[in-house]
Amino acid sequence: MCGIFGISGKIAVSSVDLCIAGLKKLEYRGYDSSGIALLNEGQIEIVKSCGKVESLEKRVLHLKDLKAVSIAHTRWATHGGVVEVNAHPHIDNEKNLALVHNGIIENFYELKLYLKKNGVQFLSDTDTEVIAHLFSHFYDSNLLNTLKRVHEKLIGSFAVACIHKDHPNTLIVTKRDKPLILALDQQKGQIIVTSDRNALYEGEFQTVDLEDNQIALINENTLQLYDQNGLITPLQFTPLFVKNTSHDKGEFSHFMLKEIHEQPHAIRRTLEGRYDLENGQILLNLPKNFKEFFPKVSKIALIGCGTSYHAACIIAHFIEEFVRIPAQAHIASEFRYKEGLTDESTLVIGISQSGETADTIGALREAKRQKAKIFCITNVQHSSIIRESDFHLMTQAGPEISVCSTKAFTSQLLLLYLLTLEFYQMKHGFLDQGNTWIQNLRTLPSLIESVLQKKSLIQEIAKQTCQFDKVLFIGRQYMFYTALESSLKLKEISYIFSLCYPAGELKHGPLALVDENTLTIALLGHAPTFQKTCSNVQEIQARKGKIFAIAQKNQNLEEISPDFAFKIDVSIAQPLLPILYSVVLQLYAFYVALEKGHDIDHPKNLAKSVTVE
Ligand code: G6P
Repeated sequence: MCGIFGISGKIAVSSVDLCIAGLKKLEYRGYDSSGIALLNEGQIEIVKSCGKVESLEKRVLHLKDLKAVSIAHTRWATHGGVVEVNAHPHIDNEKNLALVHNGIIENFYELKLYLKKNGVQFLSDTDTEVIAHLFSHFYDSNLLNTLKRVHEKLIGSFAVACIHKDHPNTLIVTKRDKPLILALDQQKGQIIVTSDRNALYEGEFQTVDLEDNQIALINENTLQLYDQNGLITPLQFTPLFVKNTSHDKGEFSHFMLKEIHEQPHAIRRTLEGRYDLENGQILLNLPKNFKEFFPKVSKIALIGCGTSYHAACIIAHFIEEFVRIPAQAHIASEFRYKEGLTDESTLVIGISQSGETADTIGALREAKRQKAKIFCITNVQHSSIIRESDFHLMTQAGPEISVCSTKAFTSQLLLLYLLTLEFYQMKHGFLDQGNTWIQNLRTLPSLIESVLQKKSLIQEIAKQTCQFDKVLFIGRQYMFYTALESSLKLKEISYIFSLCYPAGELKHGPLALVDENTLTIALLGHAPTFQKTCSNVQEIQARKGKIFAIAQKNQNLEEISPDFAFKIDVSIAQPLLPILYSVVLQLYAFYVALEKGHDIDHPKNLAKSVTVE
């Protein structure tokens, strides 16, 4: 989604080079256009381009020698289509200022009408453009006063960075409900402003995360922070060492395929140091105040979006089954507008790979307002979700580049299994069959490896089934939640219309869709309901539907003789099966999308980090 990168301070190198490098590091978030603004001979110069940052790079060659205060942006369209005029930066009618924005201005239409009445002409369809004109409307030569007034008028969420012709060396920024980070490179004297730490170049920085409603004014001599009343606020820096991790695909054709193959390693790392095999104990080192709070917990709410929501579904089921505390998974965008779901005895677990998903963060804030304790699971250090939470644990999946989440999902599951086992331990003072659980978790990486070794069989099935344009996923219990995730994977990258249902629910509606052109992917892994699910498969076969069955080696499929089958070679605790079944169906989705020739790492319309509601 949208990303901001700006530079100010003592600029030592080509601004354009720095901005392009920053924008390229923001590409992984998903975007559809980009742009840069800077002052050139006293005039604001703006260059924009639709498509990849590479195309913007070609258009800014003439500005390469400039060392000027600059702002740059990657846009993911919300208000207004993907056309150059809607790309950021936006300007006022007099071309005195340029600004970039992340977020959504909810009262933009009302502000637009007001500005139009005052003679302002709009060029784009964006909500952002109103901020530029409002700035111009209120401008009184004082950047701080002006931005303060603009800020007061805006409803919604925003991170804004702005440059003005009258203040050639100054960058002014503010935010509400969106991240914005100031990163001071003391060695070079440069100050970077960005919405995402990943945009920073290799080096040592002193960083400040802007609080809501603060305004920062930055020029070659000063970095000044103000509160919403315009009073100077002391800067509290946190050191940050950025090491350039190369995001290359190595021997793989796609990041998604690479990340699927990285799962054994990601799981080993997430598990590392978090158990004591000899004593059969989980060692998550949860803080004392969490352990004191836990006995008071009457219910657990697990919250996430997309793939992270599916991890929430699987683990809510496991918590209820194993720890016997009521637990429910919630889609963040729904949860945040429900009243009275939490109180002081509720534990809320927020799950987010990026730690920046706007809906998840909004839901956690709402739960906090209702006095719940907030725990989060994320893959990104320093991410916003950590600041919103009372407690946190990190997955160790490493950076995930593909929009389609794979290794982050299975690492989330692994960490949440550990957390559930630790809950049991806290509740009972010991972990029943602790050694067996730990052994099971430890074998997961090698079991994933054995699935990966059979990928050519999965590719073959994908080749033979990629022409189906209606796909139904079915499963029961853990396998239903796993099927939800697998159905999402297939939708995201193959663009095939797919539905997911609990197998027992088919006869209440979806069976009407089944004919010889329907492929049903049946996840038969839940042993206690295996037979029942096979009966559901037969109901589909009776209506000429085709079946791709996934089962364990010891499960006999003769009775249903599916059109396609994949067997997993395992003997492992039932609740852990979702990890293995997910890997099979990640590979399946990947190979179907490959057959279709899609841009797998950048599926259309989707973004990696969804920072708007
Ligand atoms: C986007 C991504 C998904 C991801 C979801 C939640 O939709 O494309 O892959 O599952 O956001 O992201 P989070 O970072 O909060 O886990």
